[in-house]
Amino acid sequence: VNYREQGVTVTQTTPHQPDAAEQQAREQALTDEVVASFATSTSDRYRELMTSLVRHLHGFARDVRLTHAEWESAIDFLTRTGQKCDERRQEFILLSDVLGLSMLTVGINAPASEGATESTVFGPFFVDDAPEIPQGGDLAHGAKGTPCWVSGQVRSSDGTPLAGVRVDAWEADEDGLYDTQYEGNRTAGRGWQTTGPRGEYRFWSVQPVHYPVPDDGPVSEMLAAAGRRPMRPAHLHFKVTAPGHRTLITHVFVAGDEYLDRDAVFGVKQSLIAEFTEHTGGTAPDGTTRDGRWAQVEFDLVLQILKG
Ligand SMILES: [Fe+2]
Repeated sequence: VNYREQGVTVTQTTPHQPDAAEQQAREQALTDEVVASFATSTSDRYRELMTSLVRHLHGFARDVRLTHAEWESAIDFLTRTGQKCDERRQEFILLSDVLGLSMLTVGINAPASEGATESTVFGPFFVDDAPEIPQGGDLAHGAKGTPCWVSGQVRSSDGTPLAGVRVDAWEADEDGLYDTQYEGNRTAGRGWQTTGPRGEYRFWSVQPVHYPVPDDGPVSEMLAAAGRRPMRPAHLHFKVTAPGHRTLITHVFVAGDEYLDRDAVFGVKQSLIAEFTEHTGGTAPDGTTRDGRWAQVEFDLVLQILKG
């Protein structure tokens, strides 16, 4: 049929292309629908958390115009992060640490308060079943390194010594590795003890060294892609728990370490840097005669009183 001859006008129709405003409205409608799906949450806090999470996640995807390939890559990254975790490896905590989320959460929940020791990241290397170390005992337990005498007082932010409270400590050896990073189930460079009558704690350990975060997982790929250094400045971890006080999770950092101003997990606070004095031979604070090099640090741990 020849329409022209019959005087019929033919118009070609193309699919409707939404304009920017329409596209934005559609995306917002989806976000609103997902947010609304949490209205029936069984707890108010859960609803608050999930609706805010959805808004921010959607906002992120819209902001960067997330491609399907990028979405797939993110799913793969998170899947591999989870697969890297087991009872001795916590790649998700490491991810949170290098994104600064751990330090932000510390800052929100344990703000610096007058007179109390500041908090920092928990890190991925704590284990629950560390051995008990007597006062003056050796926490190194075969971990390689320069022997280091670690001592101090645990007290309350009102100045009262805290006797009989648990102090956990853990650290890497001189090769920069935690015991959990070795094959097998060795326990070294970690332990806990109970403070003495004047709140004192004291033990032998090894001089902390700076170390790279684990380099065999997706988090190290992320750091490499960002051109970021994977290093943590030398430190010893502490966790102190006492009734009526906020649990203190912190480190003591070694003064003079070259990575103090570029910690991969943003954990350094000036008040947590202490002088580790180095010695050769002589008599140690516990009265033992030492051959060769050893070090010493004194670091008090002051816990914030919980109100109410
Ligand atoms: Fe550490």
